[in-house]
Amino acid sequence: MHLVDADKKYVWHPYTQMLDWTRWDNKVIVGAKGFYLIDSKGREYLDGIASMWCNVWGHSDNEILQSMSEQIRALPHSTLFGLASAPSITLAEKLLRLCKGMQKVFYSDNGSTAIEVAMKMAVQYWHNKGMRKKRYFISLENGYHGDTFGAMSLGYLPKFFRPYRHLLLKVYKAPSPRATDQTAAKDTNTDLAQVEKVVSKHKDSCAALIMESGAQIAGGGIIYKKDYQRRISEICKQYGLLFILDEIATGFGRLGNMVEYLAQRSRPDIVCLGKALTGGYSPLAVTLTTAEIYNAFLGSYTEAKHLSHGHTFTGHAVGCAAAITNLELFHKYNLIKRIRDNAVYLRRRLNELNSPIVANPRQKGLFAAFELQQNDKPITIMQKDEILQYFVMRESMKMGVILRPLGNTMVIIPPLAIPRRDLARIMDVQMSLVKRIEKI
Ligand SMILES: Cc1ncc(COP(=O)(O)O)c(C=O)c1O
Repeated sequence: MHLVDADKKYVWHPYTQMLDWTRWDNKVIVGAKGFYLIDSKGREYLDGIASMWCNVWGHSDNEILQSMSEQIRALPHSTLFGLASAPSITLAEKLLRLCKGMQKVFYSDNGSTAIEVAMKMAVQYWHNKGMRKKRYFISLENGYHGDTFGAMSLGYLPKFFRPYRHLLLKVYKAPSPRATDQTAAKDTNTDLAQVEKVVSKHKDSCAALIMESGAQIAGGGIIYKKDYQRRISEICKQYGLLFILDEIATGFGRLGNMVEYLAQRSRPDIVCLGKALTGGYSPLAVTLTTAEIYNAFLGSYTEAKHLSHGHTFTGHAVGCAAAITNLELFHKYNLIKRIRDNAVYLRRRLNELNSPIVANPRQKGLFAAFELQQNDKPITIMQKDEILQYFVMRESMKMGVILRPLGNTMVIIPPLAIPRRDLARIMDVQMSLVKRIEKI
């Protein structure tokens, strides 16, 4: 059977209406060349979504693949339950050198589980200190933290998670930062006053407040205004809540800073990282925390203060080897400078998207977003009842670029080391799609 047909027959895809999928001319990716993916018919597509926001260096042979291959020959995987492994130690040391204020690394396999670990750490921290009433969470509206149950509870987006709502944990919501335009500073105080109100009301029953670091990405591409994150960090300290930052989508240069929480001058107690950690080559995520939190878990086994969490592949040696080399390459190629240079270009191209249907263009680092709307209403449906998101996905593929908007929010989230000519191509395709949608 041809691969495309076999896929339709056997595979269930994430976030996909499979009835629709089976009608598509689907592509099966079988290889790659640089920043391009190659399908089973030999067609090439620029990876304009960084393979769901995690790819850094493209997909071809490079130093990361070599170190993974050396690691797999030396030791493919051994557990961190009761044993240590060399790459997990080296990587932890590297991460802690970068992430000032953090003193311990806990490993998991993906962003959602890094969030689950953060939740368990926060709740058990208070439990171990005898403050057992502090067991709920506060999170921001429009935040997204992953698809496991704890993560869905924190980042409850009704359009994704409504069927599971009755099973979700109790989470108090603080408002999302309202302005999506980062230059509109005037509302910051109102936004913060509302967050503070929720925090002060629930401080005795809440373990922590969690938010994305620097920007809310999946919930609509909302870039925080200056000082917003720093001041929430201070509010948490003032009211005795732990401050958890989800830097899974925004860490490692996405917003132009290697460590976003440091650039934001915020002081988290727990930080989650994933996605670009391995350059996008291996599923690995981490939950970092301070000595203060870690020390509350120390005691004799009989006290049961230790963290009851672990996965089969916690701290996978090949993933750790990939991440070590990835971080070395950031340094070797001065990637943050390259990202910042490309960010200037991205901003200029975004400003050139001069169209009556483009609203609220915004950008930070190698992240940009804008809404498509008409008469102040979101454009969500194209002709013949086709959803805008799928129209864009299909038509951009025809032009050789992979794009994936979030509803009517067009996003630009390319691989972090993307060459200028490929970034230009993504913007050309965005521009040409906008012009087409204008006419429909
Ligand atoms: C901010 C944020 N947190 C958590 C996650 C979940 O990560 P994963 O998909 O690796 O489980 C994502 C994924 O997009 C994310 O954007």
